[in-house]
Amino acid sequence: MKKLVVLSGAGMSAESGVSTFRDAGGLWDRYPVEEVATPEGYRANPGLVINFYNERRRQLLTVEPNEGHHLVAELEKNFDVTVVTQNIDNLHERAGSSHIIHLHGELTKICSSYDPHDTQCIKELTPDEYEVKLGDLAPDGSQYRPYIVWFGEAVPKIEDAIDQVEKADIFLIIGTSMNVYPAAGLLNYVRPGAKVFLIDPKEVNVRSNGHQIHVIRKVASEGMRELLQLLSESASS
Ligand code: APR
Repeated sequence: MKKLVVLSGAGMSAESGVSTFRDAGGLWDRYPVEEVATPEGYRANPGLVINFYNERRRQLLTVEPNEGHHLVAELEKNFDVTVVTQNIDNLHERAGSSHIIHLHGELTKICSSYDPHDTQCIKELTPDEYEVKLGDLAPDGSQYRPYIVWFGEAVPKIEDAIDQVEKADIFLIIGTSMNVYPAAGLLNYVRPGAKVFLIDPKEVNVRSNGHQIHVIRKVASEGMRELLQLLSESASS
């Protein structure tokens, strides 16, 4: 089976009703990013940050995977698929994808404020635990914080993602503005000769690094339909 690696971003979940970050009216227009998505913001006002992510978790309960997520899961019928996602929602999981690397963390988990990557302290929340409070403590005695990679923090999962991307025969970029590193740099690890596709309704500025990129200028669901068609045509030719 050929190896296919997906790099998804906020646009993947847009049709589910989850806001993107940098489109007009996006999350970073409505909330100061330095207050809610940096370690400094968290230190200055942990309650505000905890509540911001409580709100995101509440929203998770009201949204469903869209056709795009389902079609990404369907790729597993014909390919060995790894999904590398910048999204903190769980919509790829709920659509049935089996191998998912969450580069920027997961809304459904909380962790130690001393060391977010201390696996002993990472806790998966059930929906009735989604409202995290000041005073909820991790086993190491620190405040439980959202298991989210904030700006300025390390992205340890990038190593697993690079390993996967280096082995890919097909690399599919979907719904990301490719503004945030190291995720955007994954394209540099795609081997020469691998096929690269990009699905986004808007033009995305990518440093193609010598790769020919097949751009499908559509939303995730329609773009995935077109991609599946293209892949089935190239398999039968
Ligand atoms: N289908 C596909 N793509 C879409 C759709 C859609 N329905 N709607 C919007 N898009 C595209 C936009 O055109 C844009 O290129 O999704 C992209 C969203 O870009 P961003 O908002 O910048 O989101 P993303 O690239 O995922 O951001 C990366 O930045 O602050 C952070 O940590 C956060 O993981 C996030 C990271």
